[in-house]
Amino acid sequence: MKKIFGIVGHPVKQSLSPAMHNAAFKSEGIDAEYKIFDIDPSDEENLANFCYETDLNNIAGFSVTMPYKQEIMKYMEEYDLLARTVGSVNTVENVDSKLNGYNTDATGAIQALQEKTTINKEKILILGAGGAARAIGYSLKEFGADVYIFNRTKSKSIELAKEFDLETIEFTQIADADFDIIINTTPVGMLPDSGSSLLHAEQMKGVKVVMDIITHPLETQLLKEAKKAGAETITGARMLLHQACGQFEIWFGKSAPIEVMETALYEELRNKD
Ligand code: ATR
Repeated sequence: MKKIFGIVGHPVKQSLSPAMHNAAFKSEGIDAEYKIFDIDPSDEENLANFCYETDLNNIAGFSVTMPYKQEIMKYMEEYDLLARTVGSVNTVENVDSKLNGYNTDATGAIQALQEKTTINKEKILILGAGGAARAIGYSLKEFGADVYIFNRTKSKSIELAKEFDLETIEFTQIADADFDIIINTTPVGMLPDSGSSLLHAEQMKGVKVVMDIITHPLETQLLKEAKKAGAETITGARMLLHQACGQFEIWFGKSAPIEVMETALYEELRNKD
């Protein structure tokens, strides 16, 4: 019988994940379909029912996105180390009617960075202190980077830095701090607010690589400013692609067809423009 996969979130109809995963299933000859599960957060029971009914609906695994990456954890039997450490699950596998949680966001971000730069010993600034910043900050530190956090709400950056032994920085010190890499994990610059950027070219002089995890638009104002400053840029699509490949590998125990998924992703991005 055809296996069902999908993405759980709200709102989720703009998701780029179905295009990538369905293309992968087709090219690998896997009898499966990847759907959208838009779950209304106004009633807590909705997510619980979805999890309890996975077998009934033949669901073999699913991706998890906003606003459920933390809440989904209470329905998991087990987690991988990263999901447990950062408190966030973006991938679920249904194994013999038990749901296991994983986090492929951070490895997705690391692999996206590694396409353009080394990480070990680099001085890295993360903008934001939410769920994505936690996962990425923790993993970069594990990789031996020197990680700094800047966040609008200072208390949150201090808390995050303390938990994972990172540093914090004041906004006015960023320009003179000689960062090698800057990563934006805030929604600043996301459509419809695409003219905004937390940093401008003058604050990024000498920075080697700037990555934004936003996918709409693909080239954010921050990345435009980074180019003006002479930095290399990485779009949110690269992290999205690598985290999806990580999910495929968890579900099927083999390497993902990355070129097929990449082509499907960029085609979908063009269609949604
Ligand atoms: P995610 O799970 O995707 O990381 P999140 O947990 O909601 O999302 O975190 C969003 C981050 O973006 C937070 O660090 C938030 O800053 P606050 O802690 O001050 O709320 C940051 N953020 C959101 N909107 C912002 C804005 N307009 N300017 C600066 N930072 C912003």
